[in-house]
Amino acid sequence: MQSLADIRRTFTDFFKNNDHEGVRSSPLVPQNDPTLLFTNAGMVQFKDVFTGKEKRPYQRAVTAQKCLRAGGKHNDLDNVGYTARHHTFFEMLGNFSFGDYFKEQAIHHAWTLVTKNFHLDPSRLLVTVYAEDEEAATLWRKIAGLRDDRILRISTSDNFWSMGDTGPCGPCSEIFYDHGEGIPGGVPGSADQDGDRFIEIWNLVFMQFEQHADGTRTNLPNPSIDTGMGLERMAAVIQGVHNNYDIDLFKTLIATAQDLVGNSGPQNRQSYNVIADHIRASSFLIADGVLPSNEGRGYVLRRIMRRGMRHAHKLGSQDPLMYRLVPTLVSLMGEAYPELVRAQPLVQQILHQEEEKFRQTLERGLKLLQESTTVLLPAQALPAEVAFKLYDTFGFPLDLTQDVLRAEGRTVDEAGFQTCMAEQKQKARAAWVGSGDTANEQVWFDFHQQFGATEFLGYTTTEAEGTVCALVINEQSVEEAKQGQDVMILTNQTPFYAESGGQMGDHGFLTTEEGAVVTITDTLKKVGSLHVHVGHIEKGQLKTGQTVKLNVDRDRRRQLAANHSATHLLHAALRQTFGKHVTQKGSLVAPDRLRFDFTHPRPVTKEELAQVEQAVNQRIFDNQETLTRVMTPDQAIEEGAMALFGERYGEEVRVVSMADSVELCGGTHVEQLGTIGLFKITGESPVSAGIRRIEAITGPAILTLLAETQKTLSAEREQNRKQVTELQKQLGDIKRQTLLDGESDNAQTITIKGYPAMVHHLKGVPARDLKALVDRYKQTLGSGLVIVTSIDDDKVALVIGVTPDLTDRLDAVKLVKIGAEILGGQGGGGRPDLAQAGGSNPENIGQLLEVLSQGM
Ligand code: ALA
Repeated sequence: MQSLADIRRTFTDFFKNNDHEGVRSSPLVPQNDPTLLFTNAGMVQFKDVFTGKEKRPYQRAVTAQKCLRAGGKHNDLDNVGYTARHHTFFEMLGNFSFGDYFKEQAIHHAWTLVTKNFHLDPSRLLVTVYAEDEEAATLWRKIAGLRDDRILRISTSDNFWSMGDTGPCGPCSEIFYDHGEGIPGGVPGSADQDGDRFIEIWNLVFMQFEQHADGTRTNLPNPSIDTGMGLERMAAVIQGVHNNYDIDLFKTLIATAQDLVGNSGPQNRQSYNVIADHIRASSFLIADGVLPSNEGRGYVLRRIMRRGMRHAHKLGSQDPLMYRLVPTLVSLMGEAYPELVRAQPLVQQILHQEEEKFRQTLERGLKLLQESTTVLLPAQALPAEVAFKLYDTFGFPLDLTQDVLRAEGRTVDEAGFQTCMAEQKQKARAAWVGSGDTANEQVWFDFHQQFGATEFLGYTTTEAEGTVCALVINEQSVEEAKQGQDVMILTNQTPFYAESGGQMGDHGFLTTEEGAVVTITDTLKKVGSLHVHVGHIEKGQLKTGQTVKLNVDRDRRRQLAANHSATHLLHAALRQTFGKHVTQKGSLVAPDRLRFDFTHPRPVTKEELAQVEQAVNQRIFDNQETLTRVMTPDQAIEEGAMALFGERYGEEVRVVSMADSVELCGGTHVEQLGTIGLFKITGESPVSAGIRRIEAITGPAILTLLAETQKTLSAEREQNRKQVTELQKQLGDIKRQTLLDGESDNAQTITIKGYPAMVHHLKGVPARDLKALVDRYKQTLGSGLVIVTSIDDDKVALVIGVTPDLTDRLDAVKLVKIGAEILGGQGGGGRPDLAQAGGSNPENIGQLLEVLSQGM
């Protein structure tokens, strides 16, 4: 038997062998289309490629795409479990041509694959074409040899496919499989076409047009192909079963559930189908970053999860069931979708805690529901107040209540339910008191009521599209904003992190297809869950309802993440160094620095600071991964997560673990601690009694600091060097002066050959200073001869002076040469009144006067 995985592989291999690029499935949360809640077809990731807005390096592609049809426009949730072929999550196999091949080739490929590779019996196949598309009918006759009665012409939108109100579209042709006479249902286009006999297995869309918001339709740059084959349906056909839930994948999931619950009677089949479908949808949503919440995508997830959990309860499962099915799911689908393997612990944990929580109210809610219906007439709708109470107090999504009532053929007063919801909003508005600047905040409170929380996509991406919900200029809501204006922009979803938990808001830019460019200089959080972009319109204009492209400044975000993670490590290191009394009292996470205030009763010494710094760096070098989980605040605290005292947390919190740190935190972090690079404390100071502040930097900021420090240091060094030289010179002068002043008393005045002579033997005085001394002695002497020597190590200097009145009789040059000879020098020279020489035999100094007198 060909398994689901085999069929997927046969499909993708077939097209790869026909020169198609194998492209990975895009996430379930579309990043290029803010109008879509979930990816609901294979072509979603290629939307802009069809219209020519985006270029890819290939013109043919093949994918197995994760799709979800629950919530939003395509919503199959209510049918799941009750029909043979509806799913919330399913896989769509597709081949695509972007202006390459067209109809003929697409039909040729499809027919070959289905009949030759999948070996389907051609007599079981029939096709539909758009009534106006005679060309397609002709091609089917030619390529597949189909008789005209097997080619059905359909004139409705069933055979004109468009992805939404706008976007690429075109006529389509669908291949149907006839499950046989035993199965009820009519051919496409007939009154009972919705039966399970004739099942569409493949839709070939001949993309030709682009539908615009103003209702006009233009030609695509080139005719293209988009196809979609529901993998589960095809598997049912190939595996010879008539119900998708009988294919290998669901059989295995259901068998696992049955083993765990131990209640497998045929009357429970629908519940098992629901569980098998919902475990896939929930797990893949969580793996793609969606978490249960009460708004938007998170609420769709919660509805799917709780619906599955209600059925588990109905089957009599004593303990939470869903999370125990995850290992089986991962073993079946993890190979094709590695993101599921990566997210397995998170998926299990979220499913487990959601089921535990919901079980606390489920039973009481069901009791209330039962009591309320017993007093109703047969077929009477459930009063809105009951449905609302179930929603508000017991956490029953409306569709869950409807699902319970379905068994007894009962409905809910839906209009009344919506009125109750509106009234509740109204009450909340009346009771609302903003924080501080109420007038300013009121506008945001109203937007929150109108649009709900902003979907934050920034944990997984820094680039996404959003729809402009509101524009605010000078605290006034406006419909449009023009070039040059400062404007606050609220979108339905955004990758921009809004300032909170000490981490500064993201910067970046926003653009529109119409050419507007807006710089975002900050992102603020308003009324708890709105991400508000603070922008300046550089070019063009913005309007509410418009689609915008949001780009976060990635370098800045990277640095913010590094500094935020470093703050957690610092917290852990402080507790390790000082003890458990250390608690966080505030923090600032900026792109270029971080600040952390904490309780500590005394100043921190230099040694302690070095120890803390070293402890943080050790954790960085160990390069462990960070792990983010989501749980209730109570569970988080139980796990030892550090929370900020006095802070209000929602019903679900993110718990970020890194090294030995576990903290409640909604911020963005590095994935591996090594990414932080390095950590350096730049300051420590008191904030107030018992509270200290540490300031620090990481990574590139340390390099900048190092470069600055080096520059300052070499400037200082140069300055010091000059000063030292100058001081040394001054000191030398002073020393010499002092020495000479002191020494002059030691000069002897004698008579040589009748001439008065001053003789002075010194130590360590340089020759140039000797000359000055000789001059001074000449003056003292008035008339006569001056002989001065100085010994320095094994050298000796000799200077001889003759007063002017005697230069005709005594020649200093001649005398110095004589002296040099005995002192072991050569030459010597100068003027007749002052000459000098040096020698290397200082031990002969005792004979100097003797030889001089002989030479006179
Ligand atoms: N985009 C087409 C579909 O979803 C193939 O049916």
